[in-house]
Amino acid sequence: MSDHIQRLKNEHKDFNVSDIDSSFESDPIKAFQQWFNDACNSNEDEPNALCLSTVDVLTHQPSSRIVYLKDLRNNELVFYTNYSSKKGLEIEKNGNASMLFFWPGLQRQIRIQGILNKISSKESDTYFSSRPRSSQIGAWASKQSDRLESKEELEIRVKDLEKRFPGVVPRPDFWGGYALDPHFIEFWQGRPSRLHDRICFEKENDEWVSYRINP
Ligand SMILES: Cc1cc2nc3c(=O)[nH]c(=O)nc-3n(C[C@H](O)[C@H](O)[C@H](O)COP(=O)(O)O)c2cc1C
Repeated sequence: MSDHIQRLKNEHKDFNVSDIDSSFESDPIKAFQQWFNDACNSNEDEPNALCLSTVDVLTHQPSSRIVYLKDLRNNELVFYTNYSSKKGLEIEKNGNASMLFFWPGLQRQIRIQGILNKISSKESDTYFSSRPRSSQIGAWASKQSDRLESKEELEIRVKDLEKRFPGVVPRPDFWGGYALDPHFIEFWQGRPSRLHDRICFEKENDEWVSYRINP
């Protein structure tokens, strides 16, 4: 492994794709949309994959995992998951969360901090009904984050659910969306010699205030 680390160090190229200049959007949501569009229009794999971090309030232990951004509406970022999963149980007690997007081809990172809230049942229903049947059955079958004795146990559950729902699969009430209402957003653009551009936006009295920070 250390050989690879050494090789990666030797092969690492300086960041030099672009910079954050005066043309950068002064509204962070518009800036996010711009960078998200750039990522989707470039060769980034999985541009809507983000690292979501939540914190267990009892142990203060953060946990991170990748989820997909599925919507940006009312200035909030939406993803879907199992409400009884590890993240779901953590969010129930502590809605403070952090989202991180990394688009290596563009040498960009966006960190977003805010409060998570469940979206309406209606909105979750609409999204759930748009999913392929196999994913709908999968949502029912997975007791996400619980211990699983064997893969067979899960396969048997899937078969049983196929029989239970021969037609339309309803959304399980333990599955749905969360929306992050952001209060802090940092845009990071890689620059040569570690002199990266970092622009932060913080919400103060419902207004976004922006400033640069050191790389
Ligand atoms: C590319 C990618 C996309 C994923 N998207 C989702 C998602 O949208 N929702 C989700 O619940 N899990 C998603 N996962 C799985 C999560 O990373 C994670 O394993 C799962 O949500 C359980 O997390 P938890 O035990 O911390 O609650 C994705 C994983 C990857 C690698």
